[in-house]
Amino acid sequence: MGWSLPAGQKLLLLVAVTLILQHSTTVYGSGSSESINMARPGCPDKCGNVSIPYPFGTGKGCFQEPFNVTCHESRAYLASTGVRVLDINLTFGEVRVQNPNIASQCNYTNGTNSTSMVGLSLDPFHKVSNTKNKLISIGCSMLGMIVGLTKGKNQLELPIVNSCFSFCTDASSVDDTTECAGMGCCQSPFPGNISSFNTTSTPIPPIYNATIQSFSPCSYSFIAEVDSFKFDRSYVSSTNFRSKYTEGFPLVLDWVVGNASCSEATKMGSQYACQAMNSQCINVSNGPGYRCNCSQGYVGNPYLQGGCRG
Ligand SMILES: *[C@@H]1O[C@H](CO)[C@@H](O)[C@H](O)[C@H]1NC(C)=O
Ligand SMILES: *[C@@H]1O[C@H](CO)[C@@H](O)[C@H](O)[C@H]1NC(C)=O
Ligand SMILES: *[C@@H]1O[C@H](CO)[C@@H](O)[C@H](O)[C@H]1NC(C)=O
Ligand SMILES: *[C@@H]1O[C@H](CO)[C@@H](O)[C@H](O)[C@H]1NC(C)=O
Ligand SMILES: *[C@@H]1O[C@H](CO)[C@@H](O)[C@H](O)[C@H]1NC(C)=O
Ligand SMILES: *[C@@H]1O[C@H](CO)[C@@H](O)[C@H](O)[C@H]1NC(C)=O
Ligand SMILES: *[C@@H]1O[C@H](CO)[C@@H](O)[C@H](O)[C@H]1NC(C)=O
Ligand SMILES: *[C@@H]1O[C@H](CO)[C@@H](O)[C@H](O)[C@H]1NC(C)=O
Ligand SMILES: *[C@@H]1O[C@H](CO)[C@@H](O)[C@H](O)[C@H]1NC(C)=O
Ligand SMILES: *[C@@H]1O[C@H](CO)[C@@H](O)[C@H](O)[C@H]1NC(C)=O
Ligand SMILES: *[C@@H]1O[C@H](CO)[C@@H](O)[C@H](O)[C@H]1NC(C)=O
Ligand SMILES: *[C@@H]1O[C@H](CO)[C@@H](O)[C@H](O)[C@H]1NC(C)=O
Repeated sequence: MGWSLPAGQKLLLLVAVTLILQHSTTVYGSGSSESINMARPGCPDKCGNVSIPYPFGTGKGCFQEPFNVTCHESRAYLASTGVRVLDINLTFGEVRVQNPNIASQCNYTNGTNSTSMVGLSLDPFHKVSNTKNKLISIGCSMLGMIVGLTKGKNQLELPIVNSCFSFCTDASSVDDTTECAGMGCCQSPFPGNISSFNTTSTPIPPIYNATIQSFSPCSYSFIAEVDSFKFDRSYVSSTNFRSKYTEGFPLVLDWVVGNASCSEATKMGSQYACQAMNSQCINVSNGPGYRCNCSQGYVGNPYLQGGCRG
């Protein structure tokens, strides 16, 4: 024995060691803890009130590229694009973000003021959901447009365009509902596989004339989750819509954990992202790639070893 301690200190040391061991088993243990760990062991599983399940993660060793989430003042951001994260959904392979990019075109009698092309450029593992979002355009006699890029067959980047026309002539012609249905506000679907896009809007002469201009000098176009946008007739005559909604509107992105198909991914060994027993591979429809799901009867995180529990 090179050293000896008084009995009291030995006891203290024992207690300390036991506490450390207990602590590490609760953090790192894959045993029978009541709630399922959704983040990597030892990694934060929340930022503010946003849950961050792996492959998303915040901090070194806590995420799979490119799902780096930064946490700043209890707000989560996707590091690859800088947009704010509102919600991450593992089961549906979605992440709801805040899209601050609102294109505006104001045609005042003293001149025009426009932010012509604004949009987002996503990393290759995220796509704009074409089922949850719509192009929305507010204004009178305005054409709203989305210009997007997709990787088509043989990986060539192709432009995708869609547009809608919102019409009104004066206050009485604007819809008095929260529906965005053509009078003062229009919406349009767009195709899948879009990884980057810009939105823009432009007045259509000769329909757009001085009468309309004096009532509605500005128009606004953006992409948003269709269920989270409610139209208000005051938007049509507003000149400060952008400063009122500086944070923009929620947008749903689809994501894949890898760009291979399931038949390729299952052969990739340790690179195969569905790490949990009782997990399965899912091909996605919005772009190439795959995701994982816990098998029927199991819940949890299919991307973590031991992540799917019965
Ligand atoms: C987080 O909190 C904000 C308000 O603080 C709320 O609007 C939002 O719905 C909450 N998100 C979740 C996922 O609970
Ligand atoms: C995550 O992204 C942030 C912001 O770009 C960067 O500062 C940080 O180093 C990244 N984290 C890791 C572990 O790469
Ligand atoms: C994921 O999204 C689906 C469909 O919107 C919803 O039913 C489910 O509750 C969501 N799951 C989580 C964990 O948010
Ligand atoms: C925008 O306003 C200016 C100034 O009033 C006018 O000359 C121009 O024709 C307007 N543009 C359109 C497209 O109506
Ligand atoms: C033009 O008029 C608009 C609305 O009245 C005003 O907000 C803007 O500052 C004016 N722009 C210039 C360059 O005078
Ligand atoms: C033009 O619009 C931008 C964005 O809404 C605003 O910040 C800026 O003050 C406007 N400029 C003028 C001259 O109105
Ligand atoms: C996306 O592109 C893939 C080919 O890479 C195609 O199979 C798929 O149908 C497209 N999805 C959508 C929603 O357009
Ligand atoms: C969006 O506009 C920016 C700036 O004008 C441009 O650099 C980018 O290529 C555009 N992206 C798309 C998808 O059109
Ligand atoms: C502008 O167009 C509206 C609707 O087409 C029409 O009622 C109005 O008289 C026109 N105003 C001018 C100045 O041409
Ligand atoms: C898939 O991703 C890898 C690495 O991220 C990249 O090298 C490869 O070119 C991608 N393949 C396709 C088909 O996009
Ligand atoms: C996924 O797609 C590949 C080819 O695109 C196909 O061979 C495979 O059967 C599909 N797997 C599943 C689980 O749907
Ligand atoms: C993933 O698993 C959940 C729960 O078993 C199920 O509701 C969902 O439909 C599955 N998703 C797919 C794409 O198979």
